[in-house]
Amino acid sequence: MRIIVCESAEEVALRAAIESIEYLGEALSTQSSGKSENPEASCVLGLATGSTPLGLYREWIERYRAEEISFRNVTSFNLDEYCGIPPSDPQSYHSFMHENLFRHIDIDPAKAHIPVTDCDDLSQSGERYEAMIEEAGGIDLQILGIGSDGHIGFNEPGSSFSSPTRVKTLTKRTREDNARFFPSIDHVPRTALTMGLGTIMSARAILLLATGKGKAKAIRDTVEGPITAMVPASILQFHPYATVILDAAAASELALIDYYVDAERNRQS
Ligand code: PGA
Repeated sequence: MRIIVCESAEEVALRAAIESIEYLGEALSTQSSGKSENPEASCVLGLATGSTPLGLYREWIERYRAEEISFRNVTSFNLDEYCGIPPSDPQSYHSFMHENLFRHIDIDPAKAHIPVTDCDDLSQSGERYEAMIEEAGGIDLQILGIGSDGHIGFNEPGSSFSSPTRVKTLTKRTREDNARFFPSIDHVPRTALTMGLGTIMSARAILLLATGKGKAKAIRDTVEGPITAMVPASILQFHPYATVILDAAAASELALIDYYVDAERNRQS
């Protein structure tokens, strides 16, 4: 794992924008970006919801407005969607993505996918989602946040490491963490359709972002703890291209923090 420690949440967003744009390269190029435009270049992005990626989305939107990047050759797949609330609900992840990213950029709405939960057969919907990811050629770069319980997507502790997109029951802790977006905890859905840990691990590269003291323990367990289903994100230790970008608070419990800072300095020199 590559660990990048930043001073602030703003710097995390900036670094995430720089890393993602560099990694996706020509697929995001515009005429004014200075890169040669390659009409063949395209990419598949895995996207996340929650508070953490908002800064990154703002950075992407700013660069899109400045004509430095374009999303017209991007296909996207979101990690998850709540069950039991329609896509039109303001708390749905369909609404979240439209409001915070899609409506501000030039992504083709037909290529911006979010798990479908307003249907009769959720397990079939999960299977169809997996097939669509495969048809698109797999995910090139997956953006992740992390739950205070170490979940990624809605893969709660105990999730199978090889799981595909399927329905998961949210833990009490996750429902409490997410209650801030709803009128009360009773309104937080109990289940969600989420990419599995197997789906996430199939992405070619991973960018996990975390900010704030509330994530420090989950980050320590993910980066330096044993690989265990009790900390679903710890499976990322097996991923060959996982980058973790943290602010100082989220990094504060890492035993090897000085080493990570040193390694990053050497990488850049
Ligand atoms: P947050 O959620 O970004 O709102 O903290 C992260 C997550 O639950 O994956």
